[in-house]
Amino acid sequence: MIECVNCNAKYDDNEVIYNCKECGSVLEVAVNTDEININKETFDCRKDTLWKYKEFMPVDETKIVSLDEGGTPFCKCEKLGKELGVDLYVKVEGSNPTGSFKDRGMSVGMTKAMELGVDTVGCASTGNTSASLAAYSARAGLRCVVLLPSGKVALGKLAQAMFHGAEVLSVYGNFDEALEAITVLALEKHLYLLNSINPYRLEGQKSVGFEIVNELGWKSPDRIILPVGNAGNISAIWKGVREFHNAGYIKDLPMMTGIQAEGASPIANAFRKNTMDMVPIENPETVATAIRIGAPVSSIKALRAIYDSNGYSETVTDDEILAAQLELARKEGIGVEPASSASIAGLKKLVEQGEIDKGEQIVCIVTGHLLKDSNTGINACSEPIEIDADVDALKKVLLNKD
Ligand code: F0G
Repeated sequence: MIECVNCNAKYDDNEVIYNCKECGSVLEVAVNTDEININKETFDCRKDTLWKYKEFMPVDETKIVSLDEGGTPFCKCEKLGKELGVDLYVKVEGSNPTGSFKDRGMSVGMTKAMELGVDTVGCASTGNTSASLAAYSARAGLRCVVLLPSGKVALGKLAQAMFHGAEVLSVYGNFDEALEAITVLALEKHLYLLNSINPYRLEGQKSVGFEIVNELGWKSPDRIILPVGNAGNISAIWKGVREFHNAGYIKDLPMMTGIQAEGASPIANAFRKNTMDMVPIENPETVATAIRIGAPVSSIKALRAIYDSNGYSETVTDDEILAAQLELARKEGIGVEPASSASIAGLKKLVEQGEIDKGEQIVCIVTGHLLKDSNTGINACSEPIEIDADVDALKKVLLNKD
């Protein structure tokens, strides 16, 4: 059953619906954990993909569209953790098939599309959603239409969307405007919308939460920190950990901590004012183009996740984002795109502010791969030295010898 998160209106699973017809709010798929009778040890015998937790995925198992997403690395970061005085793990979502966490949501969302028998899928995107949708619709054999904000999408993501055969439209406008436009096309039934306003997307993404508590030996970390753009992922992970809590697999819940870029921070602004009323930012701007979003559609779910979990929300500057990206790459060997390192930049800031206690067990989610935005990576480095393939010349440079 699909439920409105605001007025609890209920809709049939097979109704194609993105907003509540009664109050206009966002929807979620209700999963009744009382009806799921599976011993948690059973999961450990299964292949390490998100479908390991298939009982919690409310779609038809015979229609699964998958690229073996999920089961991503969970790296303990000793050096960075020690410096900050916390027990730090990083969940590396860039290791998913198309290089971002979106694949989790897309696998479940595309499975729902197959169940509904649609022929065209679409999304607006800051890049990663379009890359993922393009790949999964190729696998499913469906027509794919993506709307991207012109000139504001990292090259790797654009290449993926085009190469997997999506019809790519470069829109004069930002992500929020592109999403508004494609939502109208979806409501007129020209395509099935696979942005995170589609509640089935978030069903897949909640599996990040499942994996984290499973990897910690069926324990919740003290805190999960992640970047927030359209606010779907933080909502999804909170739903996931609550479902495992309701199922009796874990005793505690994490403090959900959402980090936004300073120039695109409507959720952090609302948190600062201790309100549920998110005021959209008209011209969002940040180097982290993936989270260059001013009117997050899942703001109500995200703010609830933050308040209900006793969590936090903070902003970081572009400089802090880029410095954290470089630090994670150089100290821990984990290469991520700028939006992802907002979680690390946020961690550092909250430790400095004393908001995070020493010794906390923290999981930072890094959402997309370094190579998604290789231009930003290259710009942070000095040019390689051009040199002859000559031992003496090499020695001169490397050993500083004449
Ligand atoms: N990190 C990356 C790398 C992203 O691509 C996104 C969102 C986020 C974080 C934020 O996640 O929207 O669930 O709060 N990218 C979307 C896209 C908007 O179109 O690819 P969120």
